[in-house]
This record gives sequence, C-alpha cells and structure tokens, in this order.
Amino acid sequence: MTTLSIDTVSVARGPRNVVHDVSIEVPPGEVTTILGPNGAGKSSLALACAGLARVTKGWINLDDRNLANQRPERIRAAGISVVPEGRRLLPHLTVEDNLKVATYSLGRRAAADGLAYTLSLFPELEKRWTIQGRSLSGGEQQMVVLAQALVSRPKILLVDELSLGLAPIVVKRLVPTLADVAASGIGVLLIEQFAHVALSLAKAAYVLEGGRVRYSGSAAELTEHPELLHSAYLLRQRGT
Ligand SMILES: Nc1ncnc2c1ncn2[C@@H]1O[C@H](COP(=O)(O)OP(=O)(O)O)[C@@H](O)[C@H]1O
Ligand SMILES: [Mg+2]
Repeated sequence: MTTLSIDTVSVARGPRNVVHDVSIEVPPGEVTTILGPNGAGKSSLALACAGLARVTKGWINLDDRNLANQRPERIRAAGISVVPEGRRLLPHLTVEDNLKVATYSLGRRAAADGLAYTLSLFPELEKRWTIQGRSLSGGEQQMVVLAQALVSRPKILLVDELSLGLAPIVVKRLVPTLADVAASGIGVLLIEQFAHVALSLAKAAYVLEGGRVRYSGSAAELTEHPELLHSAYLLRQRGT
C-alpha cells in the first residue's frame, strides 16, 4: 500500500512558476480531490506528476523514491498513471488496439492480467472491442482512456477533469467504478474544476488557487461549508 506524497512542490510552465510550494498526500484505498478555478495550476501539477512539466522545487515521493523530473515512462513504471486533461484515444484504432498500445511496456502475463482487470471494471467495452475509437460515445471513450491508465495496475491513478464534456449520466456511471478502484487499494487523485462529483467520492480535499493550496481538509467539511470553496473562486474572479 503506497501513498503518493507531493511535498512542497513548485512547477514551472515556460520560464515562470505556476505552482508554488504545494503539499498534497494521496493515500492508498481512498479518493482525494484537488479543486480550483480555471488557471489555478491543477493541470500543471498533474503534468508534473506525470513527468511532463518541470518541477523546480520539492519532492514527488512514492515508496521513498523521489520521482520529480523523472522521465514519464519511469514514473509510470513506478506505479503512477496519469490521465491528463483532454486525453483522447487514437481515433482510427479499435478499442482492443487502444488498450494493447497501453500495455506495450508490460510483460505478456501482466498485459493479459491488466486487460482482464479493465474489462471487469468496464464490461461494456467487451461489446465494443472491435469498434474504432472515433465511433464510440463520449462516455465509452472516457472508459477506454481510464482503462488505458489502469491496465498497468498502478498504485496511484491521477485523473485531470474526468467529467469535462461528459453528460451527467455518464459521469454517474463512472463514479462507482472509481470508488471500486480506490477500494481495491489504489490511491485515486481526482482533479476537477466542478466540485460536486469529486466531493461525493473524496475523503480529503484540497483547493488550489493561484498555484497555492488555499484549503486542505475533509471533503465532508467542504461540502457542508461551500463558502470555503466559493471564497477561493471569487478571489480569482476579482483578480481577473
Ligand atoms: N503550456 C503552457 N505554457 C505556459 N504557461 C502555461 C501553459 N499551460 C498553462 N499555463 C499557465 O499556467 C497557469 C496554470 O494553468 P493550468 O495548470 O492549466 O491550470 P488549471 O488546470 O487549474 O486550469 C495558467 O496561468 C496558465 O496560463
Ligand atoms: Mg486544468
């Protein structure tokens, strides 16, 4: 059982830091959420955790290893799977091939095991196995994207804007699966601009604004006191 520990991390996009001194813990077996307005630095932090944005300060620790500024393949092999904001399928490949592409670095046994695992999470995909990515509904595409991230049986799953562009009914379908994924021992980090779904799943919540953590505490407290969330968002609107 592994905790992802983001410790006093700053992240640069181009020449300037857009995330400053952020500390976030993602424990195993539960969902943690990061909320915050557009431009808060959420996606930059996600990309840093994937090895795709530059960490200028701090540590990204998993199993006592610092993964900050490691190569993306190495981070994935260490057990962190990141679904970046707006991740798309390869539209001309079938569901099967989209998933097989995601198993390329795994051995044969691990690949077969991972594929079976993802089909148990998303049994709908079996019927769509030979369909091209571009012919799938938005919800089915999001399932394949999540399956691609989970096929390697990661220790930590980080999803940036799961519900973006999806119908509420589709999001509702995905919620129990993410709860199951967490219950199986994986640490799940959900990054969302809109709070509702994330707060319903998460135990701990963080609010990021202006690249800094403005709130950290229980998701239940944030649900009961939405003004804590609104004050961070309003701050941003006044500043722009
Ligand atoms: N590729 C990029 N190059 C330079 N600056 C960027 C880039 N992407 C985002 N930014 C800047 O980084 C800041 C944080 O953006 P982002 O991490 O996307 O926030 P969020 O995901 O919370 O909306 C914003 O000021 C944004 O303009
Ligand atoms: Mg974003």
